[in-house]
Amino acid sequence: MQTADTIKGVKELTRHWKKSGRTVGFVPTMGFLHEGHLSLIKASIKENDHTVVSIFVNPIQFANSEDFASYPKDFGADEALCKSAGVDLIFYPAADEIYPPGFSTYVRMEGLTAELCGKSRPTHFQGVCTVVSKLLNIVAPDKAYFGQKDAQQLAVISRMALDLDMDTQIIGCPTIREADGLAKSSRNAYLSSKERQAAVVISKAVFGGERMVAQGERNAAAVLTTMRAIIESEPLAKIDYIEAVDAVTIEKIETLCGRVLVAVAVFVGETRLIDNFIASCEG
Ligand code: PAJ
Repeated sequence: MQTADTIKGVKELTRHWKKSGRTVGFVPTMGFLHEGHLSLIKASIKENDHTVVSIFVNPIQFANSEDFASYPKDFGADEALCKSAGVDLIFYPAADEIYPPGFSTYVRMEGLTAELCGKSRPTHFQGVCTVVSKLLNIVAPDKAYFGQKDAQQLAVISRMALDLDMDTQIIGCPTIREADGLAKSSRNAYLSSKERQAAVVISKAVFGGERMVAQGERNAAAVLTTMRAIIESEPLAKIDYIEAVDAVTIEKIETLCGRVLVAVAVFVGETRLIDNFIASCEG
C-alpha cells in the first residue's frame, strides 16, 4: 500500500493504472475509519482492480460553530485498517494542497440541498460538492462509493455527477450499525456513556417508522409522529429535523409513494447524529 500527500503523486499512479487498462475504485472519507467506511472499501476492492481511499477533514464543509477543530483523528489506525483491507493507495493531503492560496471556485447545488441537513447546515453541501468534485478530478475513478447513512449526501453527489457529466459511477452502500442499532459514525466517539445509551432511540425510531411503512402506512405525518414520540421519550435527545422526502429530489412529501427517504437528525447532548431509512412504496 502506498500513501501520497500530493495531487501530483495520486494523478501519476491512477493515470498509470488506467493506461494499463485497470479499473480504479475510490472511497472518500474524513478518516477515523470504522466498519461503515470499511464496508465501502470492501465493495470497492471487490469491484475494481485498484482502490484509493482519501482521508481529508474538509474544512469548508464545517460551519464556524461546528466540530472541525475537534474532529477525531487517528491516521495510524486508519492506515493499518486500509492496509489489512487491501487498499492500494491512501491520499492524505494537507489543507493547503487541496485549497492553495487564491482558491476561488466552489460547486453549489440548488434544490436538493434546501431540505434536511441543508436547512441547519446551509454551507455544508457546497463544501462537500466542492471537495468531492476535486477528489474525483484528482483520482479519476471508474466508481466512487458513498454510504446510505448520509442519504442526502449520496443524493446530492449522484445529482452532481449527472449534472456535471462526470464519468465516475456513484455507488450507494447500506448503513452499517452497532449491535444495538446505532448507525456507526466517527462522531459516536464524542458520546459519553450515558449519551451513547440514549442515542439508541434514533435507530429505534428509524426501525419503528420503517416497520409502519412496511405494514402499509402511507401517511407521512403518521409515521413521523410515531418516530418523533420515540425520540422525545429520551430526555438527552433533541430533534434537529425529522422529515419524509422523495429519495431522489429530496422534496418534502405528505403521502409516501415511490422511493421515499425518511431522515432524522438528532442532538444527543452536543453531538449531532443522523439516520434514515429508504422505502419503495406502491401508491
Ligand atoms: P465521512 O463521514 O468520513 O464518511 C465517508 C463515507 O463513509 C461517506 O460516504 C459516508 O456515508 C460513509 N459512512 C459513514 N458511516 C457509515 C455507516 N455507518 N455505514 C455506511 N457508510 C457509512 O461523508 C464524509 O466523510 C465527507 O462528507 C466526504 C464525502 C468524505 C467529503 O468530505
